[in-house]
Amino acid sequence: MIHGDVKDRGLAAKGKARILWADRSMPVLADIRARFELTKPLAGVRVGACLHVTTETANLMRTLVAGGASVALCASNPLSTQDEVAASLVEDFGVSTYAIKGEDNSTYYKHLNAVLDSKPTITMDDGADLVSLAHSDRKDALAAVVAGTEETTTGVIRLRSMAKAGVLDYPIIAVNDAMTKHFFDNRYGTGQSTLDGVIRATNMLLAGSTVVIAGYGWCGKGVAMRAQGMGAHVIITEVDPVKAIEAVMDGFRVMPMAQAAPVGDLFITVTGNKHVIRMEHFLAMKDGAIVCNSGHFNVELELDGGLYNQCSSRQLVRDFVEEFSLANGRKVYVLADGRLVNLSAAEGHPAMVMDMSFANQALSAEWILQHKDGLAKGVHVIPEEIDREIARIKLKTMGYGMDVLTPEQVAYLGSWQEGT
Ligand code: ADE
Repeated sequence: MIHGDVKDRGLAAKGKARILWADRSMPVLADIRARFELTKPLAGVRVGACLHVTTETANLMRTLVAGGASVALCASNPLSTQDEVAASLVEDFGVSTYAIKGEDNSTYYKHLNAVLDSKPTITMDDGADLVSLAHSDRKDALAAVVAGTEETTTGVIRLRSMAKAGVLDYPIIAVNDAMTKHFFDNRYGTGQSTLDGVIRATNMLLAGSTVVIAGYGWCGKGVAMRAQGMGAHVIITEVDPVKAIEAVMDGFRVMPMAQAAPVGDLFITVTGNKHVIRMEHFLAMKDGAIVCNSGHFNVELELDGGLYNQCSSRQLVRDFVEEFSLANGRKVYVLADGRLVNLSAAEGHPAMVMDMSFANQALSAEWILQHKDGLAKGVHVIPEEIDREIARIKLKTMGYGMDVLTPEQVAYLGSWQEGT
């Protein structure tokens, strides 16, 4: 029985067309889906997924259903849902979907609870809200769960904290840690989709503007590279000295946020940490500065207790752009309530890159079921052979070939005698 809480089931036809459009750029996932269709590795499995409800996620859900799973899906962010996709998942693809773009916090948690009500045997999370709920208010759900997967850096950090505290109750694969995930999704996906979100929301010109990027992890590297490519002057803020040197040697200026605040035209946070841009920084910004976040949670900006409380007035001036008047007479603009700008104001990462991320999700679900008896509770990395196989298939579908080691080269790499 397919259930759901979506905005309007009448949007399904539009959603289906968009899902099939994305599918054209997801050949690795399609390959896995075709095999799953024949071998049904997920027969009898109930997947409870908490992911951004996008066209790309829909193709992952189709793959799980093809593998024999029954699937309940909710949004992993209140603003990232594509309503027509949610409608089509319920109407066309047999996925119980609970997600409405712009849902409030209580609806967001009602939807997570609905997914846990389906008594999932596998959890598939993005940011670890579902896992966190199952380990707090919904401990009743834990008995049925055998394993899980986690998509993001933020979620993996949360899960490792849970494991360290000894409270994580089942094994979870850190999909984020696969090379074919974070090297590409976090870097090229976030790089492109973040600027896409900023541009769709504001229509600002990046050429010649000063863009301050907080955080030089894989996501920050991607955003910096793309902003520079569009002619922006890029400033990086960091707390890790190694990443800071990397940014310097990649050609960027590095300075504390207090110094960057008065010079930036656009600020983008991608640190995964809390209150990276605080009230003191908002007050130091130029009139007209634009501020957004592309990290998983909107806590990167000090909004509640900060800008929201200390502004003299606020108004929405266009979709996803809110103007805040400050006591010093200046105005600053926050995009998409500080939520992930790439998924709120744009469509998230392109299907071409999500193909690899979600191939990792599908294969992790299969792998974790095959190995569940020997797996300890805790966070596990995806086996390297799966990671490399995804890269191999992706490269092939992109039309590129590679060399193979000659026997002489294999022997050389395994020897130590040959030297100067
Ligand atoms: N995370 C980033 N981009 C995404 C997308 N397009 N779909 C699902 N999750 C995402």
